[in-house]
Amino acid sequence: MLLERDAERAAIATALNAAAGGDGSLLLVSGPAGSGKSALLRDTMAAAFGAGARVLRADATRLEEDFAFGIAQQLCRPVLVAAGEAERDRWFQGASEQILRALTEERLITDGHEHYLPTEAVLYGLHTVVHAMSHDDLVVVIVDDLQWADQGSLRLLGYLAKRLSGSRILLALALADECEAPKYPLVHELVTAAARIVVPAPLSRSAVASMAEVAFGERAEEPFTAMLHDVSRGNPADVATVLTGLVAEGLRPVAAQTAAAEAEAVRLLDHRVLMSLGSQPPAVLALARAVAVLGDLAEPGLAADLVGLDDVEYSSAVQHLERLGLAGREDGRIGFVTTSVRDGIESAIPVELREDLYRRAARLLYEHGRPAERVAETLMKVGIAEDPWEVRILSSAAGSVLERGAGELAARYLRRALLNTAPDSEERGRLLVELAAAERGFDLVAAARHLSQALSLLPPGPQQADAALWIPPAFAAAAPNVG
Ligand SMILES: Nc1ncnc2c1ncn2[C@@H]1O[C@H](COP(=O)(O)OP(=O)(O)OP(=O)(O)O)[C@@H](O)[C@H]1O
Ligand SMILES: [Mg+2]
Repeated sequence: MLLERDAERAAIATALNAAAGGDGSLLLVSGPAGSGKSALLRDTMAAAFGAGARVLRADATRLEEDFAFGIAQQLCRPVLVAAGEAERDRWFQGASEQILRALTEERLITDGHEHYLPTEAVLYGLHTVVHAMSHDDLVVVIVDDLQWADQGSLRLLGYLAKRLSGSRILLALALADECEAPKYPLVHELVTAAARIVVPAPLSRSAVASMAEVAFGERAEEPFTAMLHDVSRGNPADVATVLTGLVAEGLRPVAAQTAAAEAEAVRLLDHRVLMSLGSQPPAVLALARAVAVLGDLAEPGLAADLVGLDDVEYSSAVQHLERLGLAGREDGRIGFVTTSVRDGIESAIPVELREDLYRRAARLLYEHGRPAERVAETLMKVGIAEDPWEVRILSSAAGSVLERGAGELAARYLRRALLNTAPDSEERGRLLVELAAAERGFDLVAAARHLSQALSLLPPGPQQADAALWIPPAFAAAAPNVG
């Protein structure tokens, strides 16, 4: 049962009645993810059946984009298969073989949809068939997730949309808000052709309370409902996700459990958004990963460079992340709304790619003159590699943090640098001396041990002698004799 959709239903009923009376139009249902677009289309379908209409229906999915006429086929095939021969002949009067094939043949995978454009003749023919159907009955054409329809079918819908007046055809199309309109000029055309745009409103607190009562089997207490309404912002899909999760956790909708439920609700919603990232355009996922790797707040130029986005791709991806409620901007820099979102995105990056991104990020930060400490922090995230550049960065970052008295942090960088050096190298000896210098402030025993180890690696001469001098007298006995 759909709550609080009276106004939307009334708009749909008006459009349906008008079409039945010969005043066809395009009705667009638009709104953010989970706002209830598909649910409203289902309502439209039920109303259409109620009005005795012939319903042509299709759901586009991301995979659909590359199937020429995939949506047109979904719309027409069941009707054509179910129709009697006489009916089919009547609808196809004058329509060519080519059109029949476009509608009924096996799907063609196109070489990238941009290259495949149906001929005007096919489009005109398809449009004639739908119009012929509408001479028999009121026709309601319903397409969900229009943003993923193939180009051929979009052109058919565009063709129909321009020829609705005086017809008994209602086009009811749903379009996700976060679709990138400039990338889809044909979608844009359809939006412009809409006579009515229905945007499902967020649910009120009392609607959220009713959903909670159904889910828990008991009335929710006021603070609990308020929390649920706040975290979900009245988005029906978010309310449903949170309720399912909370019921599964065995929580009850009482004031005393509100804080625990809120923490769980935030976690559930972050998780849901993260899951949806995978189905976003590649540039959006790439940018999300770049920002996760560069950390809050990432500089726009660096983030775009890291994953190879140009200016246009970058700004559209940023807007997309903002619309998804994942990221925000501060002084032009981009960051995630919560650290759990960042952590979620970061940990979902495939291991090899993550390693590669962190390594490239470290180089990029270095080339852009960022402080050694920031470069070092990025290197701390990658696996061990005998790379002299990495060792040099870690060692100079250790030097600079030690200057401000952060001995333990310096030691952390140096221990990591040691892992990147050969076991009996002179370089290892020098790093051990640096490590000991860092450790002198907080762990004298470790400092002395590391100096002793350094002595055996450094060549005889001033370096070795200096190292020996540093060993505190109390530990000197343990050190090897350097003569
Ligand atoms: N008015 C409503 N009252 C109660 N539940 C609703 C309402 N609208 C939608 N829902 C429920 O919320 C969930 C999301 O709705 P729906 O799938 O229609 O959203 P959508 O906008 O199509 O989402 P997407 O962007 O993912 O396609 C579904 O479980 C649906 O049943
Ligand atoms: Mg939907």
